[in-house]
Amino acid sequence: MLTVRNLRKAFATDKGLVQAVDGVSFEIQRGEFYTLLGPSGCGKTTTLQCIAGLETPDDGEIALAGDLVYSRPKRLLVPAHRRNIGMVFQSYAIWPHMNVFQNVAFPLQYGRRRLPKQRIDERVRKALNMVQLGEYGNRPAPFLSGGQQQRVALARAIVDEPKVLLLDEPLSNLDAKLREEMRVELRDLVTRLNITTLYVTHDQIEALSMSDRIAVMRDGNIVQESTPREIYLTPKDKFVADFLGKSNFLEARISEYTPGSKLGTAETEFGPLQCTVTFDAKPGDRVLLAVRPAGIQVGPNGAAGDRNTFRGQLESISFVGDFLECQVQVGSVRLRIILDPYREFRVGQTIALSIPGDRLATVAKL
Ligand SMILES: Nc1ncnc2c1ncn2[C@@H]1O[C@H](COP(=O)(O)OP(=O)(O)OP(=O)(O)O)[C@@H](O)[C@H]1O
Ligand SMILES: [Mg+2]
Repeated sequence: MLTVRNLRKAFATDKGLVQAVDGVSFEIQRGEFYTLLGPSGCGKTTTLQCIAGLETPDDGEIALAGDLVYSRPKRLLVPAHRRNIGMVFQSYAIWPHMNVFQNVAFPLQYGRRRLPKQRIDERVRKALNMVQLGEYGNRPAPFLSGGQQQRVALARAIVDEPKVLLLDEPLSNLDAKLREEMRVELRDLVTRLNITTLYVTHDQIEALSMSDRIAVMRDGNIVQESTPREIYLTPKDKFVADFLGKSNFLEARISEYTPGSKLGTAETEFGPLQCTVTFDAKPGDRVLLAVRPAGIQVGPNGAAGDRNTFRGQLESISFVGDFLECQVQVGSVRLRIILDPYREFRVGQTIALSIPGDRLATVAKL
């Protein structure tokens, strides 16, 4: 539905040329919810603006439903208002001098095709009902809460029934509770309308909970693209593992590995550990292993089991409700783990830990 190939865009700044987007390619299927996730300045907004037609790329191609809307090789550039894309901007961009109805009606009055007044009324009502603002048509824009402004921006983006919806951090200005509600509502809405969605965020929970696929961006490039589950559980390198949630890292040396098999053995500070090998490695290679806090299991009574088991001392315990966030010292390594809040633990206690081999994976060669 949306294809981006080798997209490039640089900006001239006072510090020289900034390569904001540096050869980005991806393809989004019809009805798919696809997220660009990455730290501030990695090129997410620039990518979106190029797709919307609000920035002119330096190179690459963009196709919408099989039709090119931008191609550097073919010297083709379809203007923004003819691209059939809905967009919610990072800042919402609601017009303060208009009321809710006028804001939402705007794309129908000045956009791709102009509709007769009665059709506009119907469409705007429908869009406002969809975001549960049916009663707010006459409310002046400045008298809206952050969450309501966000919904007006969303209604305006879907009122012209776009093929593709671009959402640039649409929930970032909301408080935690509303953000959680809107996550579910927004995802429901685009699923119901079967709109292909390109979502931009730097919030990993949003990305993991809403997306069909996630592309992690760094310095204008996509470094890994996969399903939320795969990207979280088997991050490709240290950057991805670190950016998406909390990880424990462990330096190690591969001691046993048969190419083609999934599991190998690595020599670590905790002794030999069975681990998942995600790239071509051979015995003797130095690697970095990662394990999520939730991947580390705690023995019931401090007794050591057999494989991949070691002991550590609890250094800190903090109660965060659904679980205890703890740090445990194992030799010279401090691990983050999470514990059952219904069990009693105390700082200084020695506990037995184990990591199943499929939860400890190589993330980089050293
Ligand atoms: N109009 C511009 N002029 C000069 N530099 C720009 C311009 N727009 C973006 N940049 C630079 O390009 C890079 C990418 O910016 P972009 O806005 O795409 O990042 P982002 O991933 O959306 O970040 P954030 O999460 O903070 O919104 C940054 O280094 C930024 O400073
Ligand atoms: Mg941005």
